[in-house]
Amino acid sequence: MMSSLTMRNELDGYASELLAEQLAAEGWAVTESFLPASVVAALRAEADALWQGGKFRQAAIGRGNDAGARPATRGDQILWLDERSLTVAQDEYWQAMDALRLVLNRTLFLGLQNLEAHFAVYPPATFYRKHVDRFADADERAISCSLYLNPDWQCDDGGWLRLYAGETPVEILPRAGTLAVFRSETMPHEVLPAVRTRFSLTGWFRRRSLRGILP
Ligand code: OGA
Ligand code: MN
Repeated sequence: MMSSLTMRNELDGYASELLAEQLAAEGWAVTESFLPASVVAALRAEADALWQGGKFRQAAIGRGNDAGARPATRGDQILWLDERSLTVAQDEYWQAMDALRLVLNRTLFLGLQNLEAHFAVYPPATFYRKHVDRFADADERAISCSLYLNPDWQCDDGGWLRLYAGETPVEILPRAGTLAVFRSETMPHEVLPAVRTRFSLTGWFRRRSLRGILP
């Protein structure tokens, strides 16, 4: 019988070290069972209710004066998690992410310090064109992690995450429980249009800015 501690994060131990190894070797990694299905379902139900309640906002591109909604570049709507007032399911997610953060720091010496995360909804036919997850004026984001919240998602439903890793792009289906992890600074990627509404919870592990310290 597993203890509740080992149940908490299905990625504990061996699986998360494999993930870290693949991330180090390839710049990306994926697992299909990041959290217990019940937690993923609860996150989906919460995101759905918040979406129906009109709590999401059109995602913008860039920051400061240049920031603005650009549906021709990205058509998702987002809602940031507030670390100070997480729901039970969001707290499960946060703790699992923190466990992953510590494994990445221990095995890859990444110096990841904290997490920022938002729900994202892509209504049918929306997409996010090829980009990297790093602002021109900020280098804190080191590792991107997208957790998908779509039960019964089929290949025909689209919405693939396409990673431009090496010569042949890798395409990941946004199925409930799948977590895609990749390097924020160096991995170009895009979200292909979906037929159905696509839900995800995307987080970034951040580290201290090295701007002004390293050339
Ligand atoms: C992003 C992003 C990928 C996805 O939000 O920057 O690229 O699969 N998301 O949702
Ligand atoms: Mn991105």
